[in-house]
Amino acid sequence: MNRLEIRDLSKAFGSEVVGLEPKIPLDADTCQLLQRVFDERGLLLFRGLDIDKASQVYLSKMLVRKDTVADDPTADDVDIEHEMYISNKRTKGIAPFGRLQFHTDAMWCDQPVEVLSLYGEDVEEPVVPTIFVSAVNGWNTLPAGLRQRVHGLSASHTAGQLRRGDLTDVLVATFQNARSTVAPIEFRHPRTGQTLLYVCEQMTQEIVDLLPDEGEPLIQEIFDHMYQPDNQWSLYWRKGDLAVWDNISIQHARPNVMTDGPARTLRKFLFPSPKMSPEQLPTFSNAG
Ligand SMILES: [Fe+2]
Repeated sequence: MNRLEIRDLSKAFGSEVVGLEPKIPLDADTCQLLQRVFDERGLLLFRGLDIDKASQVYLSKMLVRKDTVADDPTADDVDIEHEMYISNKRTKGIAPFGRLQFHTDAMWCDQPVEVLSLYGEDVEEPVVPTIFVSAVNGWNTLPAGLRQRVHGLSASHTAGQLRRGDLTDVLVATFQNARSTVAPIEFRHPRTGQTLLYVCEQMTQEIVDLLPDEGEPLIQEIFDHMYQPDNQWSLYWRKGDLAVWDNISIQHARPNVMTDGPARTLRKFLFPSPKMSPEQLPTFSNAG
């Protein structure tokens, strides 16, 4: 078994794992320990790794106990190059510039993306961080009055253009035939059983059970609670960082990335990958 040291990254969520020697497969005791910490903390950070895509995929899927499930041959997460890198330098990098509001990747998909990971392949420090919040912590600390108000309500989430608040520098991803889904706001995590606040700044459209003049202020109250600065933790990327997080319980955002800024190339893996043909991939523009 690897001798691992586990350090909290913030009070509510996230752990750094020190001492992992990556290999495929890891021994059972190491897997169990990492899976337990991942379930409890939602995000694991490994620093100073030199790993290829196969190791990133293995670690990410192992943490959600899907390492024995073969890749769906129709999934598009492996072969489409511009789906694989968040980059301001690679010619087909995704989200190459701009600010991203807090979101759960592909929240508009009926089948949630369970795990998401980024690996710092080319990072010219210092670069813009990735900022995280925990939707589990959001629920656990939600005032009783707000809990009562959201109980039994559902919200719709869309890949379509929908913008609230300060849009300065925001990157807008435009999808053809934008998809959407509806889910309870008081959401039960399918693997951990935790309750979490399932709405996000970037993709939540409306509370389907309420009229907009009632629903919109409630959404804003939830955001004010969930995204308060004390609930955020920022990862300042270094080359060789691997961050793996539970995409259902942990949301991510980032400040403005510039194409003429330092290289920020992060190799991305997500599972399960939402089904999208190359023509359905988004185009990017700036909200202003
Ligand atoms: Fe994302």
